[in-house]
Amino acid sequence: MRTAMLRSLLRSSSAARWFSSSSSPERKVAVLGAAGGIGQPLSLLMKLNPLVSSLSLYDLAGTPGVAADTSHVNTRSQVIGYAGEDQLGKALEGCDLVIIPAGVPRKPGMTRDDLFNINAGIVKSLCTAISKYCPHAIVNMISNPVNSTVPIAAEVFKKAGTYNEKKLFGVTTLDVVRAKTFYAGKANANVAEVNVPVVGGHAGITILPLFSQATPQPNLSHDVIKALTKRTQDGGTEVVEAKAGKGSATLSMAYAGALFADACLKGLNGVPDVVECTFVQSSVVTELPFFASKVRLGKNGVEEVLGLGNLSDFEKEGLEALKPELKSSIEKGIKFANQS
Ligand code: NAD
Ligand code: LMR
Repeated sequence: MRTAMLRSLLRSSSAARWFSSSSSPERKVAVLGAAGGIGQPLSLLMKLNPLVSSLSLYDLAGTPGVAADTSHVNTRSQVIGYAGEDQLGKALEGCDLVIIPAGVPRKPGMTRDDLFNINAGIVKSLCTAISKYCPHAIVNMISNPVNSTVPIAAEVFKKAGTYNEKKLFGVTTLDVVRAKTFYAGKANANVAEVNVPVVGGHAGITILPLFSQATPQPNLSHDVIKALTKRTQDGGTEVVEAKAGKGSATLSMAYAGALFADACLKGLNGVPDVVECTFVQSSVVTELPFFASKVRLGKNGVEEVLGLGNLSDFEKEGLEALKPELKSSIEKGIKFANQS
């Protein structure tokens, strides 16, 4: 349904019909890192979203320009750009949803964990400000390594006394978007009708697509499933290598980030049966404290963390194999937040 919304947005010759949602509640959304490779197209997509009434674009620099540009698009939201740390509070005040794509991207040869040293500090300071200026906002964490930045955010919020585990999400939607695209190609299926849950985390083997639960379900060979799994796990690296030093996925990530943000807003607005795969605090799925799985979204953020369902033997092996790396990335984030 969300994909259909964005697709019909792109088809629309006039944005006028998106004004028709003035009956939906006022929602303020902030993008932190809005002048970056993801931030700019994500800001545009959030400007196109009729559920947003106020769009706050924050970055260290460059956001007045991005905001002026985006603000000319004839859709519902009012856009304001904020640049520099002294404007962060104003950017965040009253936010219902904060999306964080701030931080450095990978270059060829790097893992997401190689970004930890820079991005951990960025996320920590942004989350400190969130706990002060909009402690009740839903947070969508895009900055890598997501397997560590989400635990960092949780610890920062705990220290500030504002932690609500139902409102903190690591955005893993791009893994789902990729799994659907790659699967549709091999299954010869209409991609708009394909569904593939992706669980675990967001780095290498911690990304576990569950093709045994994909729909539709043609009879794909084990070798094809293995290759699809590997391609989904390496999707980010595929883009990093193709960009050859000019960053990582930005456009597909903006699309995925906009889909996930839209799902969170729909949940907040009381739309029933909004289910997405996302990396959240999790106690029912595995022994790990954070895990990506299907989650039902609602007025309070997470309404229900859903279980893994039946796994194939190959997926069971993948699940056991990912646990040590995911555990260590989570612990690294927690340690950082409590040490520094
Ligand atoms: P980019 O370098 O193009 O943009 C990052 C932006 O963050 C820049 O504009 C920079 O000024 C800003 N920034 C840095 N420090 C900041 C701070 N303290 N406050 C506010 N803004 C700050 O990078 P990008 O390509 O947009 O990627 C951003 C992050 O998203 C990276 O960490 C990347 O690895 C991650 N990413 C995650 C996913 C995912 O699936 N979760 C997908 C793609 C990229
Ligand atoms: C992705 O999956 O594209 C992002 O996590 C960026 C990266 O470094 O691969």
